[in-house]
Amino acid sequence: MTRERYEALAREIQAHDRRYYVDNDPSVADVEYDRLYKQLQAAEAAHPEWVVDWSPTRRVGSDLTSSFPKIERKVPMLSLDNTYDEAELTAFHERVVRGLEGETPVYVIEPKIDGVSIELKYADGKFLLGATRGDGVVGEDVTPNLRTIKALPLVLAEPVTCDVRGEVYMEKQAFARLNAERVAAGEEPWKNPRNSTAGALKLMDPRLSAKRPMKLLTYEVVGDERGRTHFELLAWMKALGLPVSADVKRVTSLAELVAYVQAWQHGKRLELPYATDGLVIKVDTISQRRLLGTTNRAPRWAIAYKFPAEQATSKLLEIEHNVGRTGAITPLGHFEPVELSGTTVKRASFFNYNQIKRLDVAVGDRVLLEKAGEIIPYVITVVERGADRVVVEEPTHCPSCGTPLMREEGQVALLCPNSFGCPVQRARSIEFFCKRDAMNMENLGPSLVSQLVEHRIVSDVADLFDLTVEKLVELERMGQKSAENVVAAIQLGREKATLTRLLVGLGMPKIGEVWAHEVAKRFGDLATLMATDPEQIFAGLVELHGFGDERARAVSDFLADERHRAVLHKLMARGVSPSEPKTVREGPLGGVRVCVTGTLSRPRSDIQSAVEGAGGTFEKSVKKGTHYLVAGADVGATKLKDAQKKGVRVIDEAGLEKLLRGEVLDPVV
Ligand code: IVH
Repeated sequence: MTRERYEALAREIQAHDRRYYVDNDPSVADVEYDRLYKQLQAAEAAHPEWVVDWSPTRRVGSDLTSSFPKIERKVPMLSLDNTYDEAELTAFHERVVRGLEGETPVYVIEPKIDGVSIELKYADGKFLLGATRGDGVVGEDVTPNLRTIKALPLVLAEPVTCDVRGEVYMEKQAFARLNAERVAAGEEPWKNPRNSTAGALKLMDPRLSAKRPMKLLTYEVVGDERGRTHFELLAWMKALGLPVSADVKRVTSLAELVAYVQAWQHGKRLELPYATDGLVIKVDTISQRRLLGTTNRAPRWAIAYKFPAEQATSKLLEIEHNVGRTGAITPLGHFEPVELSGTTVKRASFFNYNQIKRLDVAVGDRVLLEKAGEIIPYVITVVERGADRVVVEEPTHCPSCGTPLMREEGQVALLCPNSFGCPVQRARSIEFFCKRDAMNMENLGPSLVSQLVEHRIVSDVADLFDLTVEKLVELERMGQKSAENVVAAIQLGREKATLTRLLVGLGMPKIGEVWAHEVAKRFGDLATLMATDPEQIFAGLVELHGFGDERARAVSDFLADERHRAVLHKLMARGVSPSEPKTVREGPLGGVRVCVTGTLSRPRSDIQSAVEGAGGTFEKSVKKGTHYLVAGADVGATKLKDAQKKGVRVIDEAGLEKLLRGEVLDPVV
C-alpha cells in the first residue's frame, strides 16, 4: 500500500463513519466496513510514520487519563434564561422587539437536549480538543473521552479554525438500559440522561467511555461565524460534517412561535429518541443578535422554553421485595395503572429502603410519579396519606430463601448472602447466562428459567445443556414446538459460544463485556483458564493495561471458588468449552461474501478457490447480505436489478482482482 492509498482509505472510512453515525444512513455493510478498518489498522501498524491524527483508528486513546486539565476560554459559554408559559414567552418577544427598535425578528426553534454542553476546538479543520462548560469560562478538557463519540467528526470538510458548541447526550433507550444494569448491580440509578452522560464523560478510562452510548448534536460556532443567519450557519455546520438536529424550525411571528411550542410538547417531544426538557428559541439574524447583546449569564437573543416534567398520581398497592441476580433486595412499588408520558405505568422501583423511609411512603398512599429522562418512572412524593395505610418495613430475611439479610459496610444495598442456595438468585443468574450479550440463548426468558428452577429441573447453568424436549413438554404452557425451539437455542448457544460470552454470562463482579474480552484474549480458552492456578490468573490479569488489582482479584477469587469450579467442569463435560476466536478470518476478503454471474476469464471453480483462499465466502446466488456481485460480460439485466434491490455492489472482474490483492475499490458515485 502506498501512502496516498492509505490516506484515501482513511478518508473513505471517515465518510462511512459520517454516513453511519451522523446521517444514520450507512453506506456499506458492517463486514465491509470492518474489512476496510482492518486494512487501515494494518497499514498503520506497518507504517507508523504515515498515521494522520484524524485517522478513524485514533478515537480511543489507549492512555489512562489521571485527571482532567483545565482550559480557559475567551468567549464564555453562557447559560439560558428560562420561560415556562405563553405569558413569559410573550414578554421575551416584546423585550426582543424593543431591543430591535420595533422590528419583528425571525426565530429559530431547536430542541433543548437534556445532555452536557461541550465546546470542541477545531484548527484547520482538525479536532484538537473538547471541554465541558465548567463554570462557563474555565472548563475541563475531556478530549480522550470525546474522541470515542462516533458522531464527533475528527476532521471537518473544510480547514476551518473555530470552536463548535453543542450537547453530548444519551438516547432514552440507551439511558434506560444503562440504568437497568446499574440497578441490577446494586447501584443507584442515574436520575436523568444528563447525569449519566456527565458520568460517562468524566470516566478516567476512555475505553470505558467508548462503551457508553454517547451521542452529539451541535448548535453554535464561535470564531468563524459564516452566514448572515443562524439557520444558514446550521446548514454550513451540517456541510462541514457536524451533527445538527433535524428538528429545527424557523418562525416569523409570535403567534406561530406559540403554536409551535404548544404542539411540540405533546407531539414531537415524545417521538424523539432523546430526552428534551424544552425548546430553545433563538433570534435568527446574527446582526440582530449583536444589537441585543448578552448579560453576564445569558444572551438576550435566546430563551429556553421549559416543559413541565410530566407527572401523574396513583395509589401504591403493594411493595414487592425483589431479589436480584447479585442478591441485592430492592423494593418495587406496584401502583394502580396510570398514563404517563405515553405509557401505562404500573410499577416503579424505590431503588432502596432508605428511599422509602425518606419519602415516608406506605401502601395505600397516593403518590406523585414522574419519569426520569422521560422513561423510568419514579415516586417523587406522597400527595395523600391512605386512611388505612400500611407501613412496609425493610425485610430482615430473604423473601426467596429465608436467609438473614445483611449490608456491606458503607453500602445502601440490602443483600442476601446465600448466592448459591437462594432459588431466585439462582434463577436470575441462569437467566443472565442466557442473555443476548452472554450465551445468546433466546427462548430462555425469566418465566421459563424460574419454572425450571422451581421444578428443580435446572439448578445451575450447566444443567441447561441436559434439557431435552421430553423434559420441557412436562412444563406448563410448553408445547412440543416451543420445547424444540428451546433445545435448538441451547444447542446453538453451545456452538456459537466464545470464551468472552461465557465469561460475561458467569456474571463475575466487575467483569462486563470489555474486561471479559481482555480475560478471554489473555487465556484463549476455558480449558487453559481452568488449568491455570488462580494466583497466576491474578498475575496475568494485573499485567493488562487498566485492568487493576481489584478486578483481577475478583476474577481469580471467582475462579478459585470450588463451587464455581464445579459448575465450570460440569459445563466442559457437556461440551461447553469455548475458545476465543481470532476476530477476523485471515486474508484480504475475510468475512466478505461474493457471488459471480456471467462468463469470466477463468472457470467459476477457480474464482471460488481464489475467493475462499483470500478468506471470503463464495455464494451461489445473490442474497441479502452478499457484498459483491462480480458480473461477467454477458450478464442479464434482471440479475443486476436484483442485486441493486438487495443493496449488493456490482463489480467487474478487474474489481474482484483488486479485492483479492487487498486493494480498495473507488467509492461508488
Ligand atoms: S444554545 C448562549 N441550544 O441548555 C446559548 N443550548 O440551559 C446557549 N442546550 O448550556 C446555548 N440544547 O447546554 C443551546 N439547542 C440548544 C440546546 C442548548 C441544550 C443546553 C446548553 C446550555 C443549556 C442552558
